Amino acid sequence: MGLRRCVLLGLASVASLRRMVVNGDIALLAELEPVAASLLEKHLAATKPWHPHTFVPWSRGEDFEPGYEWDPRESTMSPEVRSALYVNLLTEDNLPYYFRDIERMFGRDGAWTHWTHRWTAEEARHAVAIRDYLTVTRAVDPAALEEGRMAQMCGAQVPEPETATDGLVYVTLQELATRISHRNTGALIEDRAGYDIMRRVAMDENHHFIFYRNMTKAALEIDPSRVVQSIEKEVVGFSMPGEGIPQFDSHAKMIASAGIYDLEVHYEQILKPVVLGFWDLENIEGLTPEAQQSQEKAAKYIAKSARVAERLKQRKEAAAAKAAA
Ligand SMILES: [Fe+2]
Ligand SMILES: [Fe+2]
Repeated sequence: MGLRRCVLLGLASVASLRRMVVNGDIALLAELEPVAASLLEKHLAATKPWHPHTFVPWSRGEDFEPGYEWDPRESTMSPEVRSALYVNLLTEDNLPYYFRDIERMFGRDGAWTHWTHRWTAEEARHAVAIRDYLTVTRAVDPAALEEGRMAQMCGAQVPEPETATDGLVYVTLQELATRISHRNTGALIEDRAGYDIMRRVAMDENHHFIFYRNMTKAALEIDPSRVVQSIEKEVVGFSMPGEGIPQFDSHAKMIASAGIYDLEVHYEQILKPVVLGFWDLENIEGLTPEAQQSQEKAAKYIAKSARVAERLKQRKEAAAAKAAA
């Protein structure tokens, strides 16, 4: 990607840089700040420091000679797992943009700013670990990976939830989706070093998910109507943060075909346990008429997702039975 295109794409996002915490969020964020402080403390107590360099199998690395061209036969990894690693790594690379939005949504007061910086530092570690692993093992084309990183970061195409509660709901779903995707990718990687890295990264994502899930629950207690409206918006319009990645749709299809992340996973492991379970969407009371409508719409959408997930599950079972016959 040329410098000019990169600059132009960067300018396109300047408008959102100027946006600050939404006015109506300020009081809610202040009320939630002690909860953020307490959850941050728990997070720091629960997370153990780790060093990416200790996970990377450096002895398998070699210099890249001038004129080197990648050959897929250099690694036995399946194309589906390669797609997942490529998408997952480029997603982690978009951290500057996620930081921009997280800070814009949650502000800089008290624990919020500590959390935002800590979260970003942990996420950056994920990109370091996964990239070093992929480079050493030559599991993906390093030139294509770098070109993808440039395109992804210059494009700066990331989800931009509007309000603090939209953001809390979105990142809860996204962190859990990322945990699942990393863990399932690791399970299919057929390489102990790769498995260990993805498992370690997924553990971090789980802690991020818990922070945001519990923050959302606390926000529901303070302002249920506002949060339920955010739930509807973010559940119905949910998409993974990797959308700006070159050929994202074809990679997403590969990832789904391997069962790493698809609609069935999304319903069974996210919508059902978190939205219907932990947040108990259908039984939230004391809502405004608008929020009641959101509650019904979100519940309807989730019921439809359940039906789609069930059909998908049946199709997978039928395919597995046919393959075994
Ligand atoms: Fe991450
Ligand atoms: Fe995360």
